[in-house]
Amino acid sequence: MNQAEAKERIERLRKEIEEHNRKYYILNQPVISDFEYDLLINELETLEKKYPEFANPSSPTLKVGSDIAKEFRQYEHKYPMLSLGNTYNFDELRDFDSRLRKSVTGDVEYVCELKFDGASISITYINGVMFTALTRGDGTKGDDVSANIRTIGSIPAVLTNSDIPGEFIVRGEVLLPRAVFLRLNEEREKEGLNLFANPRNAAAGTLKTLDSSVVASRNLDCMFYSLLGEDLPFSTHYENLMLVSGWGFKVDANTKVCRSIEEVIQFITAWEEKRKELPYETDGVVIKVNSIDQQAEAGYTAKSPRWAIAYKYKAEQALTRLLSVSYQVGRTGTVTPVANLDPVQLAGTTVKRASLHNADQIFLLDLHINDMVYVEKGGEIIPKIVGVDSSVRDESSMRIEFIEKCPECGTGLVRNEGEANHYCPNYLHCPPQIKGRIEHFIGRKAMDIDGLGEETVDLLFNRGLIRTVADLYDLRAEQLVPLERMGEKSAARIISSIKESVSVPYHRVVFALGIRHVGETVAKTLASEFPSIDQLMSADNERLTAVNEIGPRIASSIKAWFADPENNEIISRLRAAGIKMTGVAKSSDKGDALKGKTIVISGIFSKHTRDEYKEIIERNGGKNSSSISGNTSFILAGDNMGPSKREKAEELGVKIIGEDEFLLMTGEF
Ligand code: IVH
Repeated sequence: MNQAEAKERIERLRKEIEEHNRKYYILNQPVISDFEYDLLINELETLEKKYPEFANPSSPTLKVGSDIAKEFRQYEHKYPMLSLGNTYNFDELRDFDSRLRKSVTGDVEYVCELKFDGASISITYINGVMFTALTRGDGTKGDDVSANIRTIGSIPAVLTNSDIPGEFIVRGEVLLPRAVFLRLNEEREKEGLNLFANPRNAAAGTLKTLDSSVVASRNLDCMFYSLLGEDLPFSTHYENLMLVSGWGFKVDANTKVCRSIEEVIQFITAWEEKRKELPYETDGVVIKVNSIDQQAEAGYTAKSPRWAIAYKYKAEQALTRLLSVSYQVGRTGTVTPVANLDPVQLAGTTVKRASLHNADQIFLLDLHINDMVYVEKGGEIIPKIVGVDSSVRDESSMRIEFIEKCPECGTGLVRNEGEANHYCPNYLHCPPQIKGRIEHFIGRKAMDIDGLGEETVDLLFNRGLIRTVADLYDLRAEQLVPLERMGEKSAARIISSIKESVSVPYHRVVFALGIRHVGETVAKTLASEFPSIDQLMSADNERLTAVNEIGPRIASSIKAWFADPENNEIISRLRAAGIKMTGVAKSSDKGDALKGKTIVISGIFSKHTRDEYKEIIERNGGKNSSSISGNTSFILAGDNMGPSKREKAEELGVKIIGEDEFLLMTGEF
């Protein structure tokens, strides 16, 4: 590799890693395994060392991936929240040990902790009361998710022990037990929601949920692994951990002090299999220097402590034969290749299928039919193919070529410049796309039609009873009753729920139509700028893009949708069924009962949902904010308002108003 090539590779790796960081930390949807990610980081580190002229302080090798989301308020971490160096082999652990022994005085003792796979959290307690709970964020500042953390039953909100410091920080990993994760995904599948890939993503996603009552329903747990503060009570990490455990924080009972690196290696080996019996996902062992003084002596790099390292277990792999590749068409027309495998045992389950992501992946693996392939399951529910043993390939076997036509409707597939996926452009007549649109239409945030799930939509579609969302409003109970697993009761419930949906407010109707790029927020904006569907339909590009938030991409998607005669037909039929095609215009929409007021919502409510209260605030000219400050006008409080929120409110003299008083105030009682 010459210098120019190195530069190019470095830049490419940085970009690629940043994109993987975004998928992992922001979207909670990683597409590569930790091992593959670590390979990329290693390669970049090696190149940066060899070519220091291309150093860059914002390289992903020097900073931690960020999980910051704009919906939350951020606070600085008092102590930076760093990452850990990691390794997959024992020799590197021995190197770590000898390096360390050279940099500190005296003999070294290690603490071995299982590395739980969830989302890290840093909680500050002041005078025994939980004050803030921050995510790792970018390591310097994190998102304040206190309201969500307070819903976790096993984390103490108030401590009454006599031996607690005035101010201290505990850090740990927020987790979702494997069993809860499986149950949650089952429920999500029934509701037609996207599935979480693994317990870690489910935990991290839940922690960033805006509605704390949803968080409360998810049974999160938290395992703590460090105590921070000025003048720590004990001089060793282990003793401090035990103290924290005595205060009521969960600390893993398997944590062990080891007197040599060989003893550490024994611990790691012993847990490789045993860890699978634990109720939580673990992906390795964290090894830390026990003495706090020696930790300070060893110090830190920009990204991680020199006194700790993570040993990561490799994801389990199995070797099996690739029988064929089939192709699935998603709701938006995206085509995903799926490998059909000779069934093989992997991590306790039989694997028959594996995901292949896209055409590039097939090309990179150079897959042939009948190839022996390595499948890997890294905590994910869907295993993936990570390699091919081409030495045993049969000469005559055929290379896999990505299909050119949609397997569902036969239309030629399209792949846009710069995009990884192929998609079927037959938006109007391709069955999975039609069903996907209907499922979107009946969703909770759209028309909220109860009793109709993915399965029933499938049945109704296959029997020819629905072809578009408008057909729903022509359904009769006697058409439903004969369907599989349907009784008179469920049929009646579906019909009445369809009837009720005509009163759904106009902005949700706009969202329900499923116009590409028109999500919930854009739909709301459109509904208040264009208070009737006719106005929206006749708005030209210029008028559309004049609206804040609406750019040319959204505008052209709206124009294209309404230009389609079939969509116009759907609109007229929905209108005839009595669905709301008008709302209230922006200016007259807003009352001014709450004009200029900033309101924080906290607790659990009985008369309206939290989202409805947000709407009422907006409708009355107020602003909803997520955290209490000097600018807060008042707090709309339901039951179980968190004690620290209450305390903060009292401290700042912010008024607390109940549900009824609030509704009277806005005339919405
Ligand atoms: S110590 C400065 N201990 O792993 C020390 N981290 O890859 C950094 N993790 O962000 C953290 N179990 O989310 C530590 N026993 C443990 C852990 C642990 C899981 C997570 C944590 C951290 C990540 C680092």
